Amino acid sequence: MKTHGRRTLAIASLATVVMTAMTLVPSIRAQGSVQSVVDGAFAKYKNLQEGKNADYIPALAKVDPNLFGIAMVTADGKIITAGDVKTEVSIQSISKVFTMARVIQDQGPDAIEKRIGVDATGMRFNSIVSIEFSKKELGGPEMNALVNPGAITATSMVQGATADEVWGKIIGTYSDFAGRPLSVLADVYKSESDSNQRNQAIGMLMHAYEYIKSNPAQATDLYTRQCSVGVNAKDLAMMAATLAFGGRNPATKKQVIGADNVPYVLAVMATAGLYDDSGKWLYHTGLPAKSGVGGGIIAVSPGNFGIAVVSPPLDDAGNSIRAQRAIRDISTALHGNPYAVQRQKPVATSGR
Ligand code: DON
Repeated sequence: MKTHGRRTLAIASLATVVMTAMTLVPSIRAQGSVQSVVDGAFAKYKNLQEGKNADYIPALAKVDPNLFGIAMVTADGKIITAGDVKTEVSIQSISKVFTMARVIQDQGPDAIEKRIGVDATGMRFNSIVSIEFSKKELGGPEMNALVNPGAITATSMVQGATADEVWGKIIGTYSDFAGRPLSVLADVYKSESDSNQRNQAIGMLMHAYEYIKSNPAQATDLYTRQCSVGVNAKDLAMMAATLAFGGRNPATKKQVIGADNVPYVLAVMATAGLYDDSGKWLYHTGLPAKSGVGGGIIAVSPGNFGIAVVSPPLDDAGNSIRAQRAIRDISTALHGNPYAVQRQKPVATSGR
């Protein structure tokens, strides 16, 4: 009876191990099967002709709309790619994630929550009305570091005696996340500086309302510079993967931010990463993500993979169409949704 019981237990634990292994995705999958999922999404969407490049920053309208690249970094550090993962586009709003991460790392999660807020505005990313509604008297702050008013404020919070020192921290952080030295695309920076009057107004208003403590012009200029940083799909996937794996870059092994700080970053991404469509995105994928008007989207399946797609044509909400579809398909095929029960290690107590 005892032996039988032990054998049953052994079989049961073997079954648990096998089931856990089968559901821990994609580290136990053959690399080839992940590659075929990524290739399949690339083939499915490469001829999709929907959406249009952003053109309110003139340099973005000139980027080849056919540019399409997918890159994914898995739990075992493998990089899986399809299409063009080398051509750089400007990082744009995806930068907001990494400036926020820098501030959280240096000043703690409360600094972002108290100064800016961590709630969705429910309005466009560059809404000025959202600033008015963010006021405490009106029930605020309904604001976050991933829309322009909050993002320019987050940039103003990066500490440094001079603009160069602040910039050094910002570009250093992005480079650590990407695992290689990144730099500004000069043509995009010039084009955006020449056309960013609305962001200048947002910076000034955020100063008037005391979110930004000093020098709003410097904050807006550094924000414009951070949005102009050049990245390819591989860089973005590595940045996403660094968030997926506890703040440690899987290629360089550098601990870029503390593992304890990563959930705060991911929470704001989940709430506000795809602007007006953040809820819709989360509903279908469960993935914290962030888009940029340069055509990139990053998404994070915690402990599982980081993925990025670059494809410039955007939908009405300002999110890359091919990127949304490809990431959604790939994550669904690989069970990337962190809310899906089959992936989770159960929380159990002994002696039940
Ligand atoms: O502030 C801007 O308008 C741009 N530099 C960034 C906007 C952006 O990427 C919004 N994205 N979806």
